[in-house]
Amino acid sequence: MNFADTELVMGILKNHGYVLAKEIDDANVILLNTCSIRDNAEQKIYARLEHLRGNKRRKPGTVIGILGCMAERLRKNLMEENGNPPLVPQGGIRTSLREKIVDLVVGPDEYRRLPEFIDSAFAGEKGIGVKLSRTETYDDIIPYREDGLNAWISVMRGCDKFCTFCVVPFTRGRERSRALDSIVAEIKQLSERGFREVTLLGQNVNSYIDDENDFADLLAASAKVDRLIRVRFTTSHPQDLSNKLLYTIAEHPNICNYIHLPVQSGSNRILELMNRTYTIEHYLNLIDSARTIIPGVSFSTDIISGFPTETDEDHLMTLDVIRKVRYDGAYMFKYSPREGTKAFDMKDDVAEELKAKRLNDIIDLQHQISFEINQSQIGTEEIILVEGNSKKSDDFFAGRTDTNKIVIFPRDEEIVVGDYVKVKINRATSGTLFGEIL
Ligand code: 5AD
Ligand code: SF4
Repeated sequence: MNFADTELVMGILKNHGYVLAKEIDDANVILLNTCSIRDNAEQKIYARLEHLRGNKRRKPGTVIGILGCMAERLRKNLMEENGNPPLVPQGGIRTSLREKIVDLVVGPDEYRRLPEFIDSAFAGEKGIGVKLSRTETYDDIIPYREDGLNAWISVMRGCDKFCTFCVVPFTRGRERSRALDSIVAEIKQLSERGFREVTLLGQNVNSYIDDENDFADLLAASAKVDRLIRVRFTTSHPQDLSNKLLYTIAEHPNICNYIHLPVQSGSNRILELMNRTYTIEHYLNLIDSARTIIPGVSFSTDIISGFPTETDEDHLMTLDVIRKVRYDGAYMFKYSPREGTKAFDMKDDVAEELKAKRLNDIIDLQHQISFEINQSQIGTEEIILVEGNSKKSDDFFAGRTDTNKIVIFPRDEEIVVGDYVKVKINRATSGTLFGEIL
């Protein structure tokens, strides 16, 4: 989401005559687009700000800005504390002794005003824009994109789900959707520029609505633009993933057979405390329906370990769901209390070591399953979109299957990036498939 927002911000600034600096030392304006989802995301930004202190010292006129969710969450604190985590005391370092380096703080719905804030900052005036909007979708702004294969397209913003652990409804505001026509027009332009894949983004894409068009309609319309463009999407909330959506995925060969469906926990008691609004039984039924309607569909998920009051029994239920679903992949996190959320008021009572141990159990199990699933692909033939050289060697190409698995295969002079090729899989690890072109 932030990657897409950064392209949006670059689009806005480019329209105002700004150009991207080649090196950070050349830049007169440095903007950090931030995430607040877990504490460690914010800690990375504080570390980066510390680093930028040197840039400001070397080039005092440099404007430094914080964009995104941290701007929304911490607001003025970021300018006053200047890089000191307000909630984490920093031992002996006193804020009053430190030069102030943040000049502007702009939340996710105020990016249109960035040029104005930057102008003021050059004139020595600090700026803050953190109003959330019920309507802003940046529909008319063309994001600045380098040529490439995959484009991220934000189709809706905000979230109304209010999972009790999550800061997003507070930092990104209420749900709103972009117009279907403008999304389709954007995909047409991307097709003309040679893009081969679009990923439709939203905190909960299943809430997408534009007049009578729901997310399934948007997916179908996106898939029809260019059959050589693969359409992916993320993220789906299990409460409102409809059968219509599943049938739409099945019907269009260029909508990828891959669903990211965060489960968060395997325990109904914890799911209720999380306000996830579904039961594990509902979730498993969904997985079954998807597998019936879309043969060969693959799944990934998000899991949180150590939510308040989580017992060993709850944890075993999470492991059990992982075994039952057999996800192709998972994003796994330790619970991180976020101020202002409902869960923050519950006691963060699972000890750090226990959270870590449970997280390790989850990761180990998931790796084992990913390995087994990938091993079972050996001997199969897959259609791969060629994405570029493999990270490790220019003698090999890397691409991805429709189900989002990375495949490495020997380079071939006749094949170029953006081609679709058929590859036979002959080796597999938990993260990667290896094969040869047929
Ligand atoms: N602590 C840990 N993980 C979180 N996520 C969201 N909020 C928190 C939190 N407070 C995870 C969820 C979500 C993913 C994007 O981040 O699993 O699906
Ligand atoms: Fe956060 Fe829940 Fe909304 Fe996802 S659905 S962004 S976890 S509140």
